[in-house]
Amino acid sequence: MNPVRKRVAVLISGRGSNLQALIDAAGETGFPAEIALVISDRPDVQGLQRAERAGIARQVLMPKELGGRAAFEAALDEALRKAGIDLICLAGFMRILGAGFVARWQGRLINIHPSLLPAFPGLDTHQRALEAGVKLHGCSVHFVDAGVDSGPIIGQAAVPVLPSDDADSLADRVLVEEHRLYPRCLELVCLGDVQLRDRKVTVASSAAAKGAALANPGAR
Ligand code: GRF
Repeated sequence: MNPVRKRVAVLISGRGSNLQALIDAAGETGFPAEIALVISDRPDVQGLQRAERAGIARQVLMPKELGGRAAFEAALDEALRKAGIDLICLAGFMRILGAGFVARWQGRLINIHPSLLPAFPGLDTHQRALEAGVKLHGCSVHFVDAGVDSGPIIGQAAVPVLPSDDADSLADRVLVEEHRLYPRCLELVCLGDVQLRDRKVTVASSAAAKGAALANPGAR
């Protein structure tokens, strides 16, 4: 018997290519989650069109229009609860959520970040990686805590930094791995295969044996 699929909300601000990867994964037989709701803090973004094409409920919540962050987060909370959401995925959501919101969703709120955390939290990660001269770069999926890109890491995928790279070419290479990593990490969380203790995530040995816990699930 299939376990009950988790109801996932994806929060976006733009292009939504990671949203698309999650939508595609959720369409696979046996995937333990459905994308039940997409919320954007900007109107007219490509991610909303992707959600529409997939027949997923969508909402635009704009902090400015709602009267600020507190009102925005209250509206967000309400939308998520009304939709019976179990888990939130941030996917290119360009807003920092307040400590109260984060605490309410602790352990049920995950994010993808385009660097190998704890290196390069924040913005412009690809340019910063190039400037630092790192030889490996990549992406991380992590539980969200009250800091910026500082929560416990669930999974990571690495790519080489090539001498010919500029920020765009490096971003493209990382993005391919983001699209592989995020669905796999979501799957682990939905199946209850990750345990969060003392800010560290461990992956159940059964999932690890299947290779789901590899640091680089995209390795070929
Ligand atoms: C991704 O690189 C994600 O890691 C970062 O913002 C970008 C969003 O891209 N947080 P998309 O909207 O998923 O295409």
